[in-house]
Amino acid sequence: MQSRFVLKTIFLFSLNIISAIDTCDRITQHGYPCQTHRLTTTDGYILTVFRIPYSHRGKTRNNVTTASRPPVLLMNCVQCSSDIWVLLGPHNGLPFMLANFGYDVWLANARGNVYSEKHIKFEPSSTAFWEFSLDEIGNIDVPATIDYILAATNSQSLHYVGFSMGVTAFVMALASHPSYNQKIRTSHLLAPVVFFCHARGPLPTLGVPLLGNNNPLSVRLGTLPLHQLVFLFREVASRICLLPDYQSVCIQLLNFFVGWDSPYLNRNLLPEILATTPAGGSIRQYHHYLQLAASCGFRAFDFGLERNLQKYGKPKPPAYNLTNVHPKTPMEMYFSDNDFLADTQDLYRLSEIFGKRASWNRVKYMKYNHFDFALAYNLKECIYDCVVHRMQRYEGRDFNLDLCKCFRNKPF
Ligand SMILES: *[C@@H]1O[C@H](CO)[C@@H](O)[C@H](O)[C@H]1NC(C)=O
Ligand SMILES: *[C@@H]1O[C@H](CO)[C@@H](O)[C@H](O)[C@H]1NC(C)=O
Repeated sequence: MQSRFVLKTIFLFSLNIISAIDTCDRITQHGYPCQTHRLTTTDGYILTVFRIPYSHRGKTRNNVTTASRPPVLLMNCVQCSSDIWVLLGPHNGLPFMLANFGYDVWLANARGNVYSEKHIKFEPSSTAFWEFSLDEIGNIDVPATIDYILAATNSQSLHYVGFSMGVTAFVMALASHPSYNQKIRTSHLLAPVVFFCHARGPLPTLGVPLLGNNNPLSVRLGTLPLHQLVFLFREVASRICLLPDYQSVCIQLLNFFVGWDSPYLNRNLLPEILATTPAGGSIRQYHHYLQLAASCGFRAFDFGLERNLQKYGKPKPPAYNLTNVHPKTPMEMYFSDNDFLADTQDLYRLSEIFGKRASWNRVKYMKYNHFDFALAYNLKECIYDCVVHRMQRYEGRDFNLDLCKCFRNKPF
């Protein structure tokens, strides 16, 4: 009873924090227009999508028709939200760059993060709300968001940019719904996490023995609504890390989890990063990743023998069929050596499977780590310029691929 009360209190407290400023506030701060859209998935989750319909500056302002402003979907990582894309600001942030180049930018939020923490029936304080893994995000949220955007913009297809889990979910979506291949113009997959066999760092090292396989502990932990603690962490961390003496400790801690010693993290953003991340999610999402690490496969969530039989009709969860993943243009994969979570061995294996369906861009900086693909100070020069101009080429507009110069000549 008492712990429930404590959780409720933390939850209410956390609502005060998150209502303070949202992605649209962060966008309009810089003068850009922003809209908030909500869609309901077939299983009742209410997802928030933020939209920058056009840029307030440059020649694209008023005279570009909706038809000539192609939609782009940006999909978030585990424990982050649409906020992660806008933290770099109007000069270096991908959403702003895209808007300036005449794109219609949509920032998605997977179920369970701060902006998508609603359900038509379940309260987020109930365990039923949290009974989802990566499967539901890939198989339901991504297709639902794509369809919503295509309907709203009266388009047949869109550009997709995913970071980390945004890549996992993309591959799941296309593998289980092959008709969505036709809805993708170009795809840009940053720090791509698909196979998770060689993941390094403390999370997989500690987590796999505990939760990599199904056991009573993992089953119990799975759906606990402990997400409120995440908000408390955010509040405390963002304040502590503001203190100059603690900044380097905070950065060390961040690097500890995602890749050693990156010199590229934009340190000025630290308070903002910690005020928006972790952004919430289910424990089962982590659990799913740990299962992928243990099984070395790319497959659905493992519920244990009995529920697997009920749900999948077989004792083991089915593998995602990667043959089904073949968007209209080769998937552009952007990766690096110092990424603990998207290991080059796992990516090499994926490259053998995808063949010509994917194109591989290995960042030439040895210390680029996982979070650098969202927060490095040189992301614009290293990756985003290239992403934008590859879209420009697809759209038959002026482009400059000399900007794609941050990568090694041979990816593997
Ligand atoms: C839009 O284009 C028309 C002619 O094509 C021009 O007369 C008008 O001034 C333009 N509006 C803006 C806001 O640039
Ligand atoms: C995967 O899908 C392809 C067609 O897209 C099919 O030919 C193949 O049999 C499938 N593989 C498995 C293991 O189901």
